[in-house]
This record gives sequence, structure tokens and C-alpha cells, in this order.
Amino acid sequence: MSRHSIKLKLNGEERESEVESRLLLVHFIREELNLTGTHIGCDTTSCGACTVLLNGTPVKSCTVFAVQAAGAEITTVEGLATNGNLHPIQEGFMSEHGLQCGFCTPGMMMTSSALLRDNADPTEEEIRWAISGNLCRCTGYVNIVKAVRYAAEKMKEGGNG
Ligand code: FES
Ligand code: FES
Repeated sequence: MSRHSIKLKLNGEERESEVESRLLLVHFIREELNLTGTHIGCDTTSCGACTVLLNGTPVKSCTVFAVQAAGAEITTVEGLATNGNLHPIQEGFMSEHGLQCGFCTPGMMMTSSALLRDNADPTEEEIRWAISGNLCRCTGYVNIVKAVRYAAEKMKEGGNG
């Protein structure tokens, strides 16, 4: 199996590694970089638990090879908080009870944070559309939508984000 030297920026830090061609980005993040906040649910591009931001765009990291992330900026759930302050979307999930088992939550937060960056005041329909690639088996989505709205309001007030 061929190996490749890759450099990327992960949560603002330069990382360098040698990876096999077939290594998936999610396995690289979890097993080589030991960041286990990114979850693996289906491994087949269906659930969204593995969502991270690749150059700002939410991607399912079980569908991206680590070599494809060479030179890119990756943000995982561990990179949402800044200087010890939770990102508004993290506060939103906590305040609005946007999670039960928590398995989908990192992916939901990554997708939602990208939505809020691009659309500061999303409607319920826009939120539901944005998270339509992220499945939750527990909550029924109502409190997840509330969590995103909470974060939108917080960011309007000039909160972290
Ligand atoms: S683990 Fe990647 S979409 Fe489910
Ligand atoms: S909180 Fe359990 S899958 Fe979403």
C-alpha cells in the first residue's frame, strides 16, 4: 500500500503525517490525531456523525480520504470553542436540550456552525434543510432547531462565533 506525506491545518494547528492512500479522513482524525469528538455512525455517507469542516465546508469525513485533505484546513468539534469559551452553537445545544445520547451532536454542530456563518438568521425551514444530511435517532429534531436558533440570537448579540 502506498504511503503519502501530508500537511494540513487542524483546528488552527499545522499537522504533518504519513498516511496510507486508503486511510479515511475520519480514521486519520480519530486514530492518528486522537480527536475522538468526530463520531463514526454508518461509515457509508448516510448519518453525518462524522461531519467536519474542510476549508469551511461541512463534509462527511468517512467519505474523504486523508490524502484529499492535504493542504486543507480542517475544523472538528474540538475546534469550535475558542479561548475556553463555548461556541454559541455549543451553548445552544446545552441550553435547549438539543441532544439525548449525543452521538449525532458533533456532526450537527459542525453543520450548523457553517450554516450560521453563511446565514446569520436562518428560518426553521433553512435549518432543517441544512441539517438534512445529519440524522438523529433520539430528539425528533425540534430541540436541535431551537438550539440553532438560540445560537443565531446569541451571535446577533455579538457572542463568540
Ligand atoms: S459515519 Fe460518516 S456519514 Fe455516517
Ligand atoms: S441525540 Fe442521539 S442520535 Fe441525536
